[in-house]
Amino acid sequence: MGRTATGKHKSTKFVLICVGLLGAGLIADLLWASSSSSSSAYRYIASNWPPKKSESFIVPNLRNKTKTKEFSVEDKKDGVTETVLSATFADLPAPELKWEKMAAAPVPRLDGAAIQIKNFLYVFAGYGTIDYVHSHVDIYNFSNNTWGGRFDMPKEMAHSHLGMVTDGRYIYVVTGQYGPQCRGPTARTFVLDTETKQWQDMPPLPVPRYAPATQLWKGRLHVMGGSKENRHTPGLEHWSLAVKDGKAIEKEWRTEIPIPRGGPHRACVVVDDRLYVIGGQEGDFMAKPGSPVFKCSRRNEVVYNDVYMLDNEMKWKVLPAMPKPDSHIEFAWVVVNNSIVIVGGTTDKHPVTKKMTLVGEVLQFQLDSLVLPFYHLYILKIANRQVLWFNVLIHKHTQSLTFSFTLRCLAAIMEVACFQKPLLSC
Ligand SMILES: *[C@@H]1O[C@H](CO)[C@@H](O)[C@H](O)[C@H]1NC(C)=O
Ligand SMILES: *[C@@H]1O[C@H](CO)[C@@H](O)[C@H](O)[C@H]1NC(C)=O
Ligand SMILES: *[C@@H]1O[C@H](CO)[C@@H](O)[C@H](O)[C@H]1NC(C)=O
Ligand SMILES: *[C@@H]1O[C@H](CO)[C@@H](O)[C@H](O)[C@H]1NC(C)=O
Repeated sequence: MGRTATGKHKSTKFVLICVGLLGAGLIADLLWASSSSSSSAYRYIASNWPPKKSESFIVPNLRNKTKTKEFSVEDKKDGVTETVLSATFADLPAPELKWEKMAAAPVPRLDGAAIQIKNFLYVFAGYGTIDYVHSHVDIYNFSNNTWGGRFDMPKEMAHSHLGMVTDGRYIYVVTGQYGPQCRGPTARTFVLDTETKQWQDMPPLPVPRYAPATQLWKGRLHVMGGSKENRHTPGLEHWSLAVKDGKAIEKEWRTEIPIPRGGPHRACVVVDDRLYVIGGQEGDFMAKPGSPVFKCSRRNEVVYNDVYMLDNEMKWKVLPAMPKPDSHIEFAWVVVNNSIVIVGGTTDKHPVTKKMTLVGEVLQFQLDSLVLPFYHLYILKIANRQVLWFNVLIHKHTQSLTFSFTLRCLAAIMEVACFQKPLLSC
């Protein structure tokens, strides 16, 4: 598992990445509806804030799988309408963190992908606008806070909703959406040798998927869940392929135990030989029937807070859920100090405004290595939510100081911010 492997280096550096936090929904909302207004992004976000009443929200029981109440009580007495929002749409109480801006990324990317290896962050694909997708890689150099080293992806590679994982040198890139708007997926799968910048073909996934959970586990590339070919229906299938040093050592994918809940945009993490699948959603935008450009049209989406774990028994176990539903977190996690840390994401649509709601918290799951599946949960809050709330977050841990930055990727803006105090000190 690349990120934990990276963590074993002496000058330990960790990274947390969340390219593509903003899904097609937000693209749709931002780039179609508000394309005429340049500063609408901020207003859009601002309008996503819960009303000031939010002091009264109740933090859900952290050990309770029951989904928080999604809506709202209307008190029609005296003609007054009062809305009480559930905790999903409010901030959870937590210590503040300070953020600092870093180098802006060369291009905005929505629904792209990113992987850190040592001092370099590789950022792939993604929508530039709803009608334009990137087909190249940019590299961020942590040592000098500079972007550079741009190179092309293979022409046949998907442009968004990729499954992606690294072993610390090779980056496996599995399936995803091919083209802009809500086009169809490709099953094509590739591997990048980051030392030579050479791409190789891998056996295609048996069927294509959008944003499946992808991880390396016990010498095999595991791919599960995601959305099916229509972009909306959750897939439960799970496959694996034996890989070594950037090569498939089998000809065909093996069918594995299906995942209990399908759907795209989930964090998939291996720690201590256990595989965790966290959050994500069911449903997504779909191509409008008959549209020659596969124009995206809105469909029902449900975001989940579930946490599942697969261990040597090869049976899924249900773990305590996150305090709020969280999706688009496939590149938004890092393993630090025996914890899984998840930053930002998207949660359910706001019940009143119907707009996409972003998650403003950093969630830390402290894995108790003595007791089997057991989580402690801490919640940190970022002081400058306008930074946290965007697309990419990278967390870099050095000897005495912890840095993180987020790449803000909203309405053609992409910026980087940096923690000034240790993420995990709270
Ligand atoms: C979870 O919450 C529900 C509803 O509040 C309650 O009935 C149930 O006992 C709780 N379960 C646990 C394990 O706390
Ligand atoms: C990254 O930055 C460091 C520090 O300036 C520099 O020594 C190194 O050559 C850079 N790496 C690349 C690939 O440019
Ligand atoms: C910093 O890193 C970038 C990207 O790797 C590279 O292009 C540039 O040459 C480096 N600059 C210095 C001064 O090392
Ligand atoms: C790592 O965890 C230990 C034990 O919980 C704690 O004492 C230490 O401060 C943590 N380190 C960081 C960097 O958070």
